[in-house]
Amino acid sequence: MPNAPAPSPVRQSLTDLPEWKALQSHCAQTSHEHLREMFKNDPTRARSLSTDGPGGMFMDYSKQRVTSQTMDLLLSLCEACGLRARIDAMFRGDKINVTEDRAVLHVALRAPRTSRIMVDGIDVVPEVHQVLDRMSTFADSIRSGAWKGHTGKRIRHVINIGIGGSDLGPAMAYDALTAYSARDISFRFVSNVDATDFAEKTRDCDPAETLFIVCSKTFTTLETMTNASTAREWTLKGLGGDATAVAKHFVAVSTNAQKVKAFGIDTANMFGFWDWIGGRYSMDSAIGLSTMVAVGPSAFREMLGGFHEMDEHFRTTPFAKNLPVIMALVGLWNSNFLGAQTLAVLPYDQYLDRFSAYLQQLEMESNGKHVTLDGTRVKWSTCPAVWGQPGTNGQHAFYQMIHQGTPLVPCDFIAFCEPLNPIGTHQDLLIANVLAQAEALAFGKTLEEVEAEGSAQWLAPHRQFDGNRPSTMILAPKLTPAMLGRLIALYEHKVFVQGTIWGINSFDQWGVELGKVLAQRIIPELSGSTPKPAHDSSTQQLIGRYRAGRRR
Ligand code: F6P
Repeated sequence: MPNAPAPSPVRQSLTDLPEWKALQSHCAQTSHEHLREMFKNDPTRARSLSTDGPGGMFMDYSKQRVTSQTMDLLLSLCEACGLRARIDAMFRGDKINVTEDRAVLHVALRAPRTSRIMVDGIDVVPEVHQVLDRMSTFADSIRSGAWKGHTGKRIRHVINIGIGGSDLGPAMAYDALTAYSARDISFRFVSNVDATDFAEKTRDCDPAETLFIVCSKTFTTLETMTNASTAREWTLKGLGGDATAVAKHFVAVSTNAQKVKAFGIDTANMFGFWDWIGGRYSMDSAIGLSTMVAVGPSAFREMLGGFHEMDEHFRTTPFAKNLPVIMALVGLWNSNFLGAQTLAVLPYDQYLDRFSAYLQQLEMESNGKHVTLDGTRVKWSTCPAVWGQPGTNGQHAFYQMIHQGTPLVPCDFIAFCEPLNPIGTHQDLLIANVLAQAEALAFGKTLEEVEAEGSAQWLAPHRQFDGNRPSTMILAPKLTPAMLGRLIALYEHKVFVQGTIWGINSFDQWGVELGKVLAQRIIPELSGSTPKPAHDSSTQQLIGRYRAGRRR
């Protein structure tokens, strides 16, 4: 357990800051304004409320319910919250994760070989590149078939075993970059402790052709260790029980060499990373080994290059033109002043199928916090619930609520100009839809317009759209490995900016602990071999029902 951190310079409570109060009164004066009027009153609005980022990424936030004045006030707030100093502290390797006494250096994972980033007096960049080089050699040997399984067959199935940050990033990145991946190897991801996940993902695999990548920062996580043990049994059973087979069919990615060894994986087959990388910020470390095997070392390095470009953009661009900062401020405006409690992330690209699931951990595990850095309870709301589905599927499911429901649901739309599968008119139809959705949300349809179309008066209210529903459009040239890197870094830094303003620690996750501890207590009680459990009456009743259901 780390020592209590040295007290940070006392910061006035967020809601007492004059900059916060200025935003409150600005909100009271302007929140009734409709996007229809805002666009009518300012013909330059689209231009002034949009920004270009690295790699041709373009962000149009003119359909957010902000004006230039709102943005100025939000920018003053982030200055007052010391954003500049926090960014410098993170990039410098200061231990800003105070509750775990750790630096927060995912930016070092994509730093060029020539940079220097110090942690506890050691330059970590050479170590990062050593691991990347080892990963490259390994990935090439799997892709070329030089790496042979125990019986001499080449690897045809790569199965990543991990959960949370050791699963969501690799699973999302594999989907996102499928178009760039080796098509003669299948890639699968087992995360859930529900055996169905393992059983279904291995059903059609030959153990002689299957490689497991066991990913776990701690190498203690219940789900991952259970799945890894099952995988080892499955492999040995399929290969005649010879324990030496493990060396050819298992590699580990972890910070914990001791536990890897204790599990039975030779540390020669281990790829390391460091405690200064949070699980949810680790997909570009060795945790991304499956991604590298899938797309090859050079595409993986292109992805790292994209991350780094966004890091540099974030570190050096004035806040008024800084994509992660703008995105964070607009989100904060929606949550803390307009009262939105969720954020829908809606990529119009099928390859980003898992992107919102990935962001759920990145955003909600980072900023789903109830106390500030000094332990006092926040008096403002923090992370909104993040959710979404790729377009156009969502349009035929939950968009009804976004258009006409009672909650305010801000949306991030993500789209690319160039399709990866240029077939017929699909891409034009896809892009027409995303543009139309943002337009419909912003401007809606008045009762008069509905009636003018000849709708019966009684029906008109059902067909009317209020509009004034905020969205941001991120439009980029093409989904490439580098663009994926830029996109993820954009959200990583947005989370950082919001966490800074909310005054919370975005890099710990104590909220996941209690459930884990209670599960450990319940596990033996389910088998019936232990004395009667002592829980609340509801939990006790459910344990009893379960035992009866299993005839125990
Ligand atoms: O339960 C939360 C968590 O600690 C995440 O932060 C992490 O990504 C995940 O579990 C997996 O942890 P590990 O990589 O140590 O297995």
